[in-house]
Amino acid sequence: MEIKKVGVIGCGSMGAGITQLCAQSGYQVVVSEINDELLKRGMGFIDKVLSRSVEKGKLSQADKDAIMGRIKGTTSTGDFADCDLVIEAAIENLDLKKKIFAELDGICPPHAILATNTSCLSIIDMAMVTKRPDKVLGLHFFNPAPVMKLLEIVKTIATSDEVLETSQKFGESLGKTNVTAQDAPGFIVNRLWLPFLLHSIKLYEDGVASREDVDNAIQLGLGYPMGPLTLADMVGIDVVKFVSDALYEQLKDPRYIVPTLVDKMVAAGWLGRKTGKGFYDYK
Ligand code: 3HC
Repeated sequence: MEIKKVGVIGCGSMGAGITQLCAQSGYQVVVSEINDELLKRGMGFIDKVLSRSVEKGKLSQADKDAIMGRIKGTTSTGDFADCDLVIEAAIENLDLKKKIFAELDGICPPHAILATNTSCLSIIDMAMVTKRPDKVLGLHFFNPAPVMKLLEIVKTIATSDEVLETSQKFGESLGKTNVTAQDAPGFIVNRLWLPFLLHSIKLYEDGVASREDVDNAIQLGLGYPMGPLTLADMVGIDVVKFVSDALYEQLKDPRYIVPTLVDKMVAAGWLGRKTGKGFYDYK
């Protein structure tokens, strides 16, 4: 099956990044938000990122205009009626995602693939509210989606081989390297990354080293693009907590228990870059 038109549900940081990436790769994209204000903010973010590329001389103004021209913003899910693939990138709430999948199933054409960008929720639970569980799978992008080279493709026990193959070709068309995982807690990346991240936070919480030294040690000692505390601020402390709690709930493995500091930061609203304060100040 050929994918020509892509739908994206949610224009937050992941949804906006996925929208930009798909439009840059030549797809027609329709992206939805729950209200005009959030849609305007998400579209404005894409416009800003692309304008920066024009200023840096990495993209021509004409190419930027063409990319923006391929994106249609909407607040109506009815606009997904002619999509070949819809990628859900709403907030991490299983009941909400199930509601979205049931609605999409009624709107999208029978051949359409329905994908979720979830980091940690059970994908078969989303598939089973539709009449097409064989066409449901996970397409897990990494933040920032237009830049990170990986696409984690997550197959449930019901996903068909044909849908998997179409999704792998789609990932390649976006310039990503695909990895395939089963619908198991945390898939590959979060399953391996979170114990390391939470351990880094604990080291700082215990006063073993300053936040800068924890970050410099990993960034410079191991050649990572950014230190773990800086990365946690970028991903969002609330997201780190949600995904870790979900993995602990499913695996009962103490390596996924968040340090007390994470709970306190969430309670204080220190959620990282998006709130202007996390492990570091961004104001
Ligand atoms: N959206 C789009 N493009 C972005 C962007 C964003 N939010 N942030 C940066 N970029 C682009 C820049 O425009 C720039 O593009 P250019 O090379 O064409 O000019 C390029 O990325 C590099 O950006 P900068 O020069 O500003 O900064 P850096 O070279 O320091 O790179 C970084 C920034 C790409 C974020 C890099 O530090 C990095 O790779 N960090 C690690 C990110 C990471 O690990 N992400 C995974 C998080 S885990 C996750 O998402 C899973 C989830 O389930 C929790």
